[in-house]
Amino acid sequence: MTDIQTIHETLKQVMDPELNRSIVDLGMVHDVRFENGVVSFTLALTTLACPLSQRMQDDARARLLALDGVRDVVINVREMTAEEKEKIFGKGKKEAGSAAAVNHIHHAVAVMSGKGGVGKSTVAALLAVMLRRRGFRVGLLDADITGPSIPKMLLKEQKRPLGSPLGIMPVETESGIKVMSINLLLEDPNQAVIWRGPLISGAIKQFYGDVVWGELDYLVVDLPPGTSDAPLTVMQSMPLNGIVLVTTPQSLAGMIVRKASSMAEHLNIPILGVIENMSYVQCPKCGEIIEIFGPSNAAEVAASLAAPVLGRMPINPEIAKLGDNGRIEEYPAKEFESVVERLLSVMPETASSPVAPS
Ligand SMILES: Nc1ncnc2c1ncn2[C@@H]1O[C@H](COP(=O)(O)OP(=O)(O)OP(=O)(O)O)[C@@H](O)[C@H]1O
Ligand SMILES: [Mg+2]
Repeated sequence: MTDIQTIHETLKQVMDPELNRSIVDLGMVHDVRFENGVVSFTLALTTLACPLSQRMQDDARARLLALDGVRDVVINVREMTAEEKEKIFGKGKKEAGSAAAVNHIHHAVAVMSGKGGVGKSTVAALLAVMLRRRGFRVGLLDADITGPSIPKMLLKEQKRPLGSPLGIMPVETESGIKVMSINLLLEDPNQAVIWRGPLISGAIKQFYGDVVWGELDYLVVDLPPGTSDAPLTVMQSMPLNGIVLVTTPQSLAGMIVRKASSMAEHLNIPILGVIENMSYVQCPKCGEIIEIFGPSNAAEVAASLAAPVLGRMPINPEIAKLGDNGRIEEYPAKEFESVVERLLSVMPETASSPVAPS
């Protein structure tokens, strides 16, 4: 028979979709009662205008009604008091009721390369897709402010991020990856962003601190090519668990890769491994593997960085086609499964401490 403890446990499973955290853990549930088959409780919201209130109520109601002996559910909704908001969100220096106070990002990984066009954004998108397929809560931050390409790969149509009292809400892809990119904020996605370094850095910091990511198992950060202001900002202002380097066989210019890696080393961020993209082509008829850019040099590059090879990705026109149409989530990515497996096995639990920007 259902008791009050079961009811508490059931309510604990209801998530605030905005924050990805249990409504009980967020201190939103009060005065829980169970009398004559009727469960009643108060749901305290950060704002009564919360667009997700109905969703949380419906979820709670459905779960409670499924319990043995529960015939009705009464939910009283009210706004949190200032003290309640302070108690939940106002930890330490974080401003009460701000995105930074509610965000809880367990791991953050940046995808980097020495040179452009090697497939960083594709790799970043596929990493996010594969982690999501494994059931993790995943965010994808497009730190390429002047050449953003993440929305085009993951969204079939332009979506606008909504504002909330806590900050900017990321948009969600079909499979539930939370995405933030400058392209989502532009009136016209084809508009060029012609900004100098400090503005770019400011935007990246806002994407991290002012976006309501909520609770994430993994935040994947797509970096622009090279070692400019943007990668520097990411490495200096976000706690990162590590960096994934993307190379191609023809970018044998090991020097370029080493520049990227020496930047990471300088900032004390571990290189988790190397992914060689466009490594080979597989003949669709006979299955033969053709290394059109010459033999792989992934092992050599990785050894020079004392990092493992996480995997090699073939050139596959399907990737380009799906990526061009916001449908990269449909790519089966079988060859990427072992890459994610290896990445997870080398991921440190603790993140680097960001150093103060100079
Ligand atoms: N393995 C692959 N097979 C086929 N096409 C690919 C593959 N990887 C990437 N591409 C295509 O190559 C192009 C460049 O890829 P992508 O945008 O991911 O590179 P990038 O390194 O992020 O570029 P930039 O330096 O401009 O940010 C895209 O059109 C993408 O669809
Ligand atoms: Mg890119």
